[in-house]
Amino acid sequence: MTTHPDPTDPEAADVAPPPGCPAHRTTANRVDFARATPLFGPGLDDMDTFYGTLRADHGPVAPVLLEPGVGAWLVLGYHALLEMLRDGHRFPRSPLNWTDLTAGVVAPDSGLRPMMAHRPNNVAFADGPDHQRLRRIVQDSLSAATTPRLRHDLHGTCDRVVDTFAGRGHADLIREYATVVPLHAFARVFGLPSGQDGEFARVMHALFDSQADSQAGDRAFEQILADLLDHRRAHPADDLTTWLLRSELRDEELLPQLVVMLSAGCETLANLIGSTLRLKLVDPSFAHSLTGGRRTVNQAIDEALVRYPPLRNFPGRYLAHDTTLAGRHLRAGDALLLGIGGAHTDPAIAPTNPADALGHGNGAHLAFGAGTHACPAVAQARLIAGIAVGTLLDRLPDLTCAVPPETLRLRPSPWSTALEALPARFTPAPTTGNP
Ligand code: HEM
Repeated sequence: MTTHPDPTDPEAADVAPPPGCPAHRTTANRVDFARATPLFGPGLDDMDTFYGTLRADHGPVAPVLLEPGVGAWLVLGYHALLEMLRDGHRFPRSPLNWTDLTAGVVAPDSGLRPMMAHRPNNVAFADGPDHQRLRRIVQDSLSAATTPRLRHDLHGTCDRVVDTFAGRGHADLIREYATVVPLHAFARVFGLPSGQDGEFARVMHALFDSQADSQAGDRAFEQILADLLDHRRAHPADDLTTWLLRSELRDEELLPQLVVMLSAGCETLANLIGSTLRLKLVDPSFAHSLTGGRRTVNQAIDEALVRYPPLRNFPGRYLAHDTTLAGRHLRAGDALLLGIGGAHTDPAIAPTNPADALGHGNGAHLAFGAGTHACPAVAQARLIAGIAVGTLLDRLPDLTCAVPPETLRLRPSPWSTALEALPARFTPAPTTGNP
């Protein structure tokens, strides 16, 4: 049997790979990634320091380790990231171009696979005409779902969730509110059966965290949605799942589009609602400007998108050809990551305070991406987050953080800016009495 040298071992960099070996192209990576900074483990809580150190050591395109032996380039310069996102031809989306994946360097049971392995027939992983066709259908389905009734339903949903803890005087705003509201909202929009929220949230977190249970979470997530499709085939209703079943999507394209919309939507929205509430609870000047009317809820959400982008890093682009980005030579087969959090703190655009440079609604932030794969649900995301934050602040105006702010922790995901918990106190309030 032919053995391969460890791709991360610098001593092994001079050992010639076997002729014709598909991992041959990782030869350069052995050098590039041998001492790369891990994008996992301790240190990710303080992302500003993480990005600052990486930028100082490597510039706008920095080598990082995704797991032992698997490297990628984190694009954390604002202009470099924009250049990458706008050029789908030079920087394609399909992981089938990624040598570490196709050569088996990423282990079959790796927690990276749910986020980084290829997902066929899925808009987020497609390139070229296939991508354009799938994207048009996804956009049309989202427009069809964004009705005046949705806005009305959202107010009712948020009120009912606040009712579950309003009388108690304390709550964990992540577990009991930020995570629950998008699930209820999407359950309604997509026609998911009620009562599955807890399980749905659990498997989605597993999927997003790229840890040991990620593949099991991914399978369970797909099963819930496959069951939903079966149910709606037999019992059509006025919801987005039924809309997709009646669209031009081929059979094999239905589940992948449901998976991407629900996973991309629920996790990111929970993060955005949680981060906006975090700013309100722990940043006194932010809180005063919000309650004093100098910031609207929408401006507050923009600021959270800049300071805590719901996806701080995100996979990825996978090179089919050698190219150069921000002076860095990159090789066919390399993986690149969207370093959104890094781009937002890039001194090239935010010399002192990133929120001043990017926030206040000027739309220059990259929290929703840019270019051909930019998020197609910006309007829907802003609508849901705005109503969620607005309702909570109206109902419980004297919310305060129940723990020292420095004890707040993020989940260990390399991708998601997700608080573990946000314990809050408030004066107990009456419930609305709505069922
Ligand atoms: C705060 C909320 C959200 C944030 C921050 C967000 C962020 C993003 C980002 C950064 C991308 C681009 C990824 C790339 O370029 O590779 C993206 C793509 C996408 N998002 Fe969102 N998203 C949000 C909400 C939603 C919602 C609510 C949905 C659907 C219900 C959604 C569906 C999608 C889809 C389908 C794509 C793939 C588009 C494509 O590849 O053409 N997102 N999102």
